[in-house]
Amino acid sequence: MPLQTSVRASKKPLRLDDEVRFLRSWIEKPLHMGAVMPSGRLLARTMAQYVDPHGTGPVIELGPGTGAITNALVQHGIDQKRLVLVEYNPGFCALLRDRYPQAKVVQGDAYRLRDTLWNVLGMPASAVVSGLPLVTKPMLTRMKLVRDAFAAMAPNAPFVQFTYSVVPPIPKSLPGVTTEASERIWMNLPPARVWVYRKP
Ligand SMILES: C[S@@+](CC[C@H](N)C(=O)[O-])C[C@H]1O[C@@H](n2cnc3c(N)ncnc32)[C@H](O)[C@@H]1O
Repeated sequence: MPLQTSVRASKKPLRLDDEVRFLRSWIEKPLHMGAVMPSGRLLARTMAQYVDPHGTGPVIELGPGTGAITNALVQHGIDQKRLVLVEYNPGFCALLRDRYPQAKVVQGDAYRLRDTLWNVLGMPASAVVSGLPLVTKPMLTRMKLVRDAFAAMAPNAPFVQFTYSVVPPIPKSLPGVTTEASERIWMNLPPARVWVYRKP
């Protein structure tokens, strides 16, 4: 069997292939993508560490793309069956269905979260992990997203978001919301920080 065929049969993410897919999508829709390449491993691991692998509720990932953070969530011990992956791009959805056959892949708009998740969740989510390029959206749209996400989550569950920006993507002093941030991850290109907002 040729090497290329056997590597593909393993369904393991190939970083270079994913970078090419990502770049193509960025050329077509730069604002939608918000980045020219997938998140690096350290950033993805940092995102995943805020999610409790022993929880029982669904873990919703918004904008999973080629699955860089999805992979870190699975490596962190989160059962694929708990994953609900909300992705706009149909090509990425097909890739995610192939790579994570036990996860629920929902092709839809994360900024219309109530409609998109209607009838999808059986119980409140344990976490929402977002790779959406939030800063390309007006603040009102970002706030609506967090409000809709909180409505789908259990109390104290984390909404985890990374940003390349030096300021938080969501204000850090929302009434009743506990906020924390990671160190800046200089190893990522571009450097990023993870912000976590816990539902009251
Ligand atoms: C910055 S990329 C992050 C991809 C991946 N999470 C990572 O870290 O490598 C943003 C992703 O969000 C997706 N996206 C953008 N707008 C979206 C929307 N309204 N609903 C769902 N997904 C969206 C894009 O298709 C892309 O896959």
